[in-house]
Amino acid sequence: MKKTACFLLAVLLCAVVCLCGQFEKASAEETVEWTYPVSVSSLQSKYAVLVNEENLLDKSYRPAPLVRVRNVKQATNTELELEETTANALLDMFAAAQAVTEYTYTAEDKDGTPVTKTASFPNGMTLYLKSAYRSYGTQSTIYANYLDRNNGVDDGYVAKPGSSEHQSGYCADILNKKWAGLDRMNQDFETEVEAYWMKENCARFGFILRYPKDKEDVTRIAFEPWHFRYVGVEIATYIMDNNLSLEEFTVESQAALEDFVARGGDIRKQMDKEFRLLNAPPESTILDEYGEDGDAEVSLSF
Ligand code: DAL
Ligand code: ZN
Repeated sequence: MKKTACFLLAVLLCAVVCLCGQFEKASAEETVEWTYPVSVSSLQSKYAVLVNEENLLDKSYRPAPLVRVRNVKQATNTELELEETTANALLDMFAAAQAVTEYTYTAEDKDGTPVTKTASFPNGMTLYLKSAYRSYGTQSTIYANYLDRNNGVDDGYVAKPGSSEHQSGYCADILNKKWAGLDRMNQDFETEVEAYWMKENCARFGFILRYPKDKEDVTRIAFEPWHFRYVGVEIATYIMDNNLSLEEFTVESQAALEDFVARGGDIRKQMDKEFRLLNAPPESTILDEYGEDGDAEVSLSF
């Protein structure tokens, strides 16, 4: 009898200890705060993927869903395709450009002094799509032709097969009318009004200027003022506002994720929390509970 009582007591104690442990763990998770300025959900999204020489895409990789990009001006006769969300974002950006009739921007004169300029577009600013999704095979051909043209020298203008973002379907080369009519692209495109506009506005549509001028040592790709990569609005805004390359952003954000997990944070739970916050109904405030007519009145405040 005594033995049974002791055994039951021991079991009870274990259960209490166990429950306390669970409780402590649950409250620790709840108190682990995500403080990095970009949400975990964005960081976990497929659009945050880094593609470069260290992070290659498989030969057989093909984005899905891949859609034809229709109803945009093109700088090529080839049929162009993009991953679906990227395609829709691109259409939005092209439409927004087309609605621009006047654009004031800050350019640099020959000695680097900032100058404010205004350009008029009576019929709107028209963008031209030059290149979009490219299969591994297409990129291999482009890379081989580039080496042939360039005496076998890879000077960072065309990515090696597998390391091109074009294979991901998340990026596009975009020009203006003048450059659409030329055979080759070069960095002088950066002085075109459309290049300024895209750099300033791309993030609103989820795009980043993927190969910036001052980041060639990090991206290991030459400055490309025409190459825009879709990463989603939240990441794009952070990257463009903070003048980062995708490589730098990836290092920074992965460190934030690792730190969060090391402090006891749970990625799945944080994503659920972000989802709930995103889908929560707008906050309502009772401004005048009984109003003048005596009825309960509720106003929405945003
Ligand atoms: N021109 C870019 C780097 C590419 O080939 O993907
Ligand atoms: Zn490109």
